[in-house]
Parts: sequence; C-alpha cells; structure tokens
Amino acid sequence: MIEVAGLTKRFGPTLAVSDVSFEVQKGEVLGFLGPNGAGKTTTMRVITGYLSPSEGRVRVAGYDVVEEPLEAKRRTGYLPEAPPVYPDMTVVEYLAFVARIKGVPRREIQTRIEEVSEKCAVTDVTDRQIGKLSKGYRQRVGLAQALIHNPEVLILDEPTAGLDPKQIIETRELIRGLAGQHTIVLSTHILPEVSKTCERVLVINQGKIVASGTPQELTHRLQGYETVLLTAEGPAAEMMERLQRVSGVNLVEPRDAADSRVTFEVHAEKGHDVRAELARAIVESRWKLLELKTSGLSLEDIFLQLTTKDLGEGPDTSDKSSVVGIV
Ligand SMILES: Nc1ncnc2c1ncn2[C@@H]1O[C@H](COP(=O)(O)OP(=O)(O)OP(=O)(O)O)[C@@H](O)[C@H]1O
Ligand SMILES: [Mg+2]
Repeated sequence: MIEVAGLTKRFGPTLAVSDVSFEVQKGEVLGFLGPNGAGKTTTMRVITGYLSPSEGRVRVAGYDVVEEPLEAKRRTGYLPEAPPVYPDMTVVEYLAFVARIKGVPRREIQTRIEEVSEKCAVTDVTDRQIGKLSKGYRQRVGLAQALIHNPEVLILDEPTAGLDPKQIIETRELIRGLAGQHTIVLSTHILPEVSKTCERVLVINQGKIVASGTPQELTHRLQGYETVLLTAEGPAAEMMERLQRVSGVNLVEPRDAADSRVTFEVHAEKGHDVRAELARAIVESRWKLLELKTSGLSLEDIFLQLTTKDLGEGPDTSDKSSVVGIV
C-alpha cells in the first residue's frame, strides 16, 4: 500500500533522510521509532506529498506522490506533528472545512462528520471551539480530520505526544481500532508505544533505517546481545572462522568488504566484552586489525530517550548496555 524506494531528502547541506526504503502492506500498522532529528517527520511529509523528495520514489496505493499527487493525497490522511490550529472554529465547523478541502461530496459531509466524531470520541465537544479544548481532545480532532475523507492510508506523526497517561491509552486504543481498515504509519520516540500499537517497527536514526522487526524481535535483540564492528585486512573466510571461535561470540556476519578489507558485525553474548579477545585473534593470526568498536549506531541514545520518556509500562528497556543489531 505504501512503497518507499531509495528516499533521500536534503535541506541545503542537511541530509535529513538518506536512502530509505521500506514497504507497508495493506492493513498493517508500522511504527517509526527514533530520536529527535532522526528524519521521521521528513519521511512522513514526503509520503503525504507536503515535501518533494531529493531522490527516490514514494507510491501510495500505487500512485506516485510526485507524479500523481492528487490521487495519492485523496487516499492519505495526515496527522501532522503540529496540527494546524483554527482556535475560533468549532469542531464541527473545522471538520466541515477540512472535508470540503479534501473533496468530500457536499451531501456526504454531514454523515462523514458524524462517523469520524463517533470514531474519535469527540461527539460531546463538536460545538466547542477548538482553542478551548484540552490537548487530548484537540489530538482526537486532529485524528478526526485525518479520517474525514475515509483514506486508505493514515500517517500519524507522534499521535500521543504531549498527552497525559489516560489520553495516551485512549489514543492508542483508537489507533488499534483503526488498524485493519486503514494502513497506518505512526512515529514515536517511545518503545512501549510501538509495542502497544504496531505490528512492525523501523528504527530510524540520523536519516537511516538502523533496525527493523516486530516490537518483540526488537526488544529481544535489544536485550539479547552486544554488537561489535571489526574491520581487518586478511582472508575473509579464515578471519570469519577464527572470530567465530572466540569465546562469548554468538554470530559473525560480514558487513562490508573492499579489496582485502572486511568489516564484520560480531554479536556477542550479553555482558561479554569480547573486544580484547577479537583483537588478539586477529593480531595473533598476523592479519591487520584496522578498527574495532562497539556498534556506533548510537541506539543507546535512542533508548535512553525511550526509557526517560516511558510512562513505566511496557517492556523493560532500562538496560542501555545493549544495542539493536543492524538491518
Ligand atoms: N524544513 C526544514 N529545513 C531545514 N532542515 C530541516 C527541515 N525539516 C527538517 N529539517 C532537518 O532534518 C532533520 C530531520 O528532521 P525531522 O523533523 O524529520 O526529524 P524527526 O525524526 O521528526 O525529529 P523529532 O523527533 O524531533 O520530531 C533534522 O536535522 C532537521 O533539523
Ligand atoms: Mg518529527
């Protein structure tokens, strides 16, 4: 339903999104997880047609968002990070206004407003001014406007940001209720958020996808092992075989190879610092060790944020010593 291929977005010298590719199947709920500045909003704004890509292609329901923007937009509902505010409009006036912009036929507008108000639980505030609503209700109105034209695809940028715990739970329930009938992409900083609402997660950092999987897989990987990147010069197969024999090493995967240089991703058992042994294995075999580091994805940073913003529910990610593996 959504296809993103080789998406790159630059703002002048800033590389906001770098060669990102993924697909979202019909009815799926996909979560974007990443720290501030990761590129979540930028990716979403390209999918919704509000920004044009520097490189790459995005298709929504088969329509290219650059070549056929109207067809793509007709099928997309968008809850932006900072929803446009019309504080003087009542909820019903605002929804009618958005419905007209989105091309909902005039005779259907009333019914659509009733349906989305019901779905997003705003029926008791429809005649109130938006500026006088609580943050939680304003967010629900934001969701209601995203749904007004009954789009197949919903793009929700941090739908629970700034809400109180009760409102967060209600909004998550609402999103889960929309899954199946709609294909949903949502963004968040918070791991428990994705485990509560999403079937699949892309971890995005510095404009790149650094990990993907189900919330369970990610949690498991986070807690399961530590990752070391080792670059050495020598015979690839022999080096790999030797590294695999180092005590505490679970898995060695080649990541990059150029000339006789190879970078391996080494997964070690949790709590084992295998770096010294890896170095010894390479040097004693008279190969050339060029670089050795714990996976520099700074996912610790991501998860530091995750855990500090957590409300205390969901899986325990308080152990920041481990790192998610690379895609
Ligand atoms: N309109 C713009 N002009 C220039 N730079 C931009 C613009 N929009 C985003 N950026 C830059 O692109 C990068 C990615 O920003 P983006 O808003 O996509 O991140 P994000 O993952 O949504 O972060 P947050 O969690 O803070 O919302 C950042 O470095 C940001 O400063
Ligand atoms: Mg953002």
